[in-house]
Amino acid sequence: MTNKVKIAVFASGSGSNFAAIEEACQKGELNAEIVLMVTNKPEAYVVKRAEQAGIPVAAFQPKQFDTKEAFEEAILATLREAGAEWLILAGYMRLVGHTLLSAYPSRIVNIHPSLLPSFPGKDAIGQAVEHGVKVTGVTVHLVDEGMDTGPILAQRAVDVVDGDADQTAEAIHAIEHDLYKETLNGLFE
Ligand code: GAR
Repeated sequence: MTNKVKIAVFASGSGSNFAAIEEACQKGELNAEIVLMVTNKPEAYVVKRAEQAGIPVAAFQPKQFDTKEAFEEAILATLREAGAEWLILAGYMRLVGHTLLSAYPSRIVNIHPSLLPSFPGKDAIGQAVEHGVKVTGVTVHLVDEGMDTGPILAQRAVDVVDGDADQTAEAIHAIEHDLYKETLNGLFE
């Protein structure tokens, strides 16, 4: 395939979604190339995954900057240098601000482990179990200035397994990895 879409993946955690996207790029199941992995958590496991895959890592911690704008300007300079065309959030646990949103209008995508607008924010799976819902799910959406808001691109329902967060998380992650790949393929066509 030609003209691969250049993406930067943003992540703060273990990086199973990062790994699934990276594998899909390698196998040619996603017409994209990860040019950069951006993290706000240099100690996160996703950094090891990126290094093992030979993907450049850019770690920026907000506390190193006076303002959110300065923090995002630094990220933006690195994204431009890497030639990133789309920003793919995969467990990036920070709100994206004005600087990145205006540099990448309608080109920032997020995945969230619930059927939004239910259970936005942190620990969406724990929130679903706590509320006793029987069905939760996964949402892929374009990012705006809100917390897990923005136009919804795709959703898939997942049963809550025995009221148990760990088992439900396992089921959700498996769906996330497929749904993110499918949705990104649709966007990059
Ligand atoms: C994923 O479940 C993702 O949907 C969630 O963080 C997890 C990261 O897992 N994102 C959010 O909650 C965003 N609000 P991973 O590090 O294994 O990809």
